[in-house]
Amino acid sequence: MKTRTDIPDDPALPALGAIRSAGLAAALPEMGLDGGPVELRLCGYTPGARATIEARAGDRHFAVKAYAKNPVREGALYEALGAAGSAPGSRIRVPPLLARNRKLRLLVIGWLEGPSVPRLIRDGRGERAGYVAARWFRQAASLDLRFGPRRGAAHALRMANRGFAVLGAADSGLGTIARALSRKLVRTRPRDGPPRLVHGTLYDRHVLDLGDCTGVIDWQRFGRGPLEMDAGMFLATTARIALMHGHLAGEVAQAEEAFRRGTAGVLDERALVWHQAAAFLRLASKPVSRAGGERLRARGELDPRAAAISRARTLLDEAALVAEPVFRDLERVPGRIRTRFPTLEARPQARFETFKDEAEPSTERIK
Ligand SMILES: Nc1ncnc2c1ncn2[C@@H]1O[C@H](COP(=O)(O)OP(=O)(O)O)[C@@H](O)[C@H]1O
Ligand SMILES: [Mg+2]
Repeated sequence: MKTRTDIPDDPALPALGAIRSAGLAAALPEMGLDGGPVELRLCGYTPGARATIEARAGDRHFAVKAYAKNPVREGALYEALGAAGSAPGSRIRVPPLLARNRKLRLLVIGWLEGPSVPRLIRDGRGERAGYVAARWFRQAASLDLRFGPRRGAAHALRMANRGFAVLGAADSGLGTIARALSRKLVRTRPRDGPPRLVHGTLYDRHVLDLGDCTGVIDWQRFGRGPLEMDAGMFLATTARIALMHGHLAGEVAQAEEAFRRGTAGVLDERALVWHQAAAFLRLASKPVSRAGGERLRARGELDPRAAAISRARTLLDEAALVAEPVFRDLERVPGRIRTRFPTLEARPQARFETFKDEAEPSTERIK
C-alpha cells in the first residue's frame, strides 16, 4: 500500500495535488474519514488525463477517480444506475456514487469486491467468466437510461481508426494492413440495432464476479448504442488473453462458449462478429503505443519494440480472421461496384448533451 506521497504529481489532475498535500481525509471532508489511517493504492493512471486510486479507511473501501475534465456524465451514470442496480432481483451492479467534487474534478465510488474476468480465466474458471459476462448482457438488454452520446458502428470505427498513425509509425506494414481492414469494415458496417445503455470500453477487466450478481466498472465512455458493440469488445479482450498467453486458450474457449450460450437470442451474430473485428483493430495499436511500450519494458521484455510489433500484428490478423464471414460477402461483389460503396467520413466528435452542473455545490456527499 502506498502513502499519499506516492501519488503522482500531475497538475492536470487537481485531485492528486490535494491528496498529496493534505491527505485524502482532508481533501474529501464530505467522506467523514476523521483523520484515521488511510491506505492508498494507485491502480490506474493516464498522465494528464485520469487516475484511479483504491482507498481503505477502517472498514471502508472505495475508489477515488481523478480527472482532468469534470466527470459530470460518469457521475450521473453511477447515480442513475445505482438506483436501477439496487432494485430487488437485480443481477447487475455498478459502483455506488459516494461523493463528487466539482472543483477537484473527482468522483468517489464504492469498491466492488470480486474477481475480474481475466482473474477467473487465470484461475481456471473460464466457464464462470463467460457466464458472469452473459448475465450482464441479459439484463443490460432492458436498460436504457436515455442519456449519453450515441454510440454504434460508426463510433467503433472512428475509435479503431485513431490507432492508424501509431501503427504506421511503428511499422509501415502494420499501418497498411490496418487501413485495408478498416476499409472493409466500412463497407460491411452493420445497421445499429435499438439503442441501449452501452459501456463503450467493456474490456474483460471491467467485468467482475460479485457472486450473485455481475459488476461492471469504469463507465467513463458510456453512451447509447447496440449491445453488440460492448459484446464485441468483451469477446476481443477475452480472446486477447489466449493470443498473449497460449496456455490459457482452453479457459478462454470455455469462457466464450459460456458467453455465447448465455446470450443466445440477445445479440445479432453478424453485428457481433463485425464489432469484435472492429475491437481487435482498436486494440491493435495498444502494444505499439507509448504506454504499451512502457508496459512491455516493465515486464523485462528483451526487445520491446519487436514484441510490440508482433503483438499488434497478431491482433490485426485476428481482426481479419474473425471478420472473415462478414467480408466474404464483400468478395462476391464485383470490384467496379465495390468502389461505389459509401465510405465513412471522418465526422467531428458528436456534440454530447451536457449536464448543467453549475447549480450544484462544488462538493457533495451522495446519500
Ligand atoms: N469501483 C471499483 N471496484 C473494484 N475495482 C475497481 C473499481 N474502480 C477501479 N477498480 C480497479 O482499478 C482498475 C483501474 O480503474 P478504472 O476505473 O478501470 O480506471 P482506468 O480509467 O485507469 O481504466 C480497474 O481495472 C479495477 O481493477
Ligand atoms: Mg479501466
